[in-house]
Amino acid sequence: MSGSADPNLSTVNLEWRARAREVAEKYVRPVAWKYDRLQEYPWEIQKRLKEYGLFKVFVPKEYGGSETSGVLNLCIVVEELARACGGIGVGFAVNALGSFPLMIGGTDEQKQRLLPSVAAGDRLVAFGLSERNAGSDAGGMVTRGEKNDSGWVVNGHKKWNTNGAVATLNTIFAVTDPESKSRRISAFLVEYPRDGFHIVKVEDKMGIRAIPVVELEFRNMQLPDDALLGGRPGMGFSHAMATLDKARPGVAAQAVGCAQGALDFALHYATKRVQFGEPIVSKQMVQAMLADMAAQVEAARQLVHAAARHIDAGSPKGNKFAAMAKCFATDTAMRVTTEAVQILGGYGFMRDYPVEKYMRDAKITQIYEGTNQVQRMVIARNLIKEAAELDSLAAYFPIPESAR
Ligand code: CAA
Repeated sequence: MSGSADPNLSTVNLEWRARAREVAEKYVRPVAWKYDRLQEYPWEIQKRLKEYGLFKVFVPKEYGGSETSGVLNLCIVVEELARACGGIGVGFAVNALGSFPLMIGGTDEQKQRLLPSVAAGDRLVAFGLSERNAGSDAGGMVTRGEKNDSGWVVNGHKKWNTNGAVATLNTIFAVTDPESKSRRISAFLVEYPRDGFHIVKVEDKMGIRAIPVVELEFRNMQLPDDALLGGRPGMGFSHAMATLDKARPGVAAQAVGCAQGALDFALHYATKRVQFGEPIVSKQMVQAMLADMAAQVEAARQLVHAAARHIDAGSPKGNKFAAMAKCFATDTAMRVTTEAVQILGGYGFMRDYPVEKYMRDAKITQIYEGTNQVQRMVIARNLIKEAAELDSLAAYFPIPESAR
């Protein structure tokens, strides 16, 4: 299969890929279109992900995960799953998104208590940051967490909570100090079912339809003290931002998987579909489309891997690389999946063929975990900081006084 030879991948990377590919090809691909139509959570796939130990790929060994856990291996697994089904790809990746705040800011007791069941695949996890009026402006949330004698009581709602209907741990962000500028928000580890925790809407979506995205409401939801992430209030926003840095390469990998899946099918189709007496792959215009698609998918994959390596190494460039990978890979996925539909012509537009699903699944990757407009903002903020390093250029190309 294409995408097999990559001299930059280690034996360990290739082992994770082989394991994920087996699950994707044997179990996910045959049912991907069924769950897209049904819009039901694929518990049969969850069983396989658990059986193959894939949840261990993002949990450190000391908490029941793998000694080779990390963002690069996570991206490799997510790409393979998304190549067979974008929805199932994100349904898996969101467990990492929901667990990263705990790994980044949790106490050792919280990690010991919760992570082993996540690593074993016994506990699904979600991430509750966005609200109806707080999407890109995540800091504008209004859900409130207030201290009382029994711990914390939470009131408010969360929007677009992926896997929220099937998870039993949800990392929920709430305002705990409305007067503070930089310590307004805290994160809570919400284990449920629990009184006061309600699913008020299951969204009817364009893509990733195998995975439930829900709206949550909290009415006097009482939490114990040890639900406060890290045991310290006020750290929520920076934990959310650090989490997104770690998780965005995963969304980017999901996008690469959708793009590769669509390219695979378009290439296969082009070699079989005969028009004007020959397979359309012999037409130069189709060749040019396929060539651009292949180059773009590979460039996106390499940027995703570079971002994942920065994050795994704790590099200061992780924030910029995660945003670049997310933005580039997801825009690529939209372009490539749209081109795949074009190569199939009228058939591509029909639900009988798989490419329109890849296109629908790809669209959300440009939106969630930070729109691509937010990613460009993050990249530009980094570039502006880096601009100081370019001051020496003034010696060669002084900017005229009149232009300053
Ligand atoms: N790591 C750690 N801390 C960070 C950080 C990072 N990468 N980025 C910012 N911070 C800290 C800052 O240092 C600052 O801290 P102090 O107040 O102590 O100085 C604080 O956070 C505020 O930073 P900003 O001033 O940069 O914040 P901002 O309000 O301008 O917002 C933003 C920045 C990048 C736009 C941010 O709001 C953002 O990323 N928005 C998009 C939200 C998003 O991605 N939502 C997706 C939800 S999840 C989802 O979609 C999931 C799903 O279901 C699949």
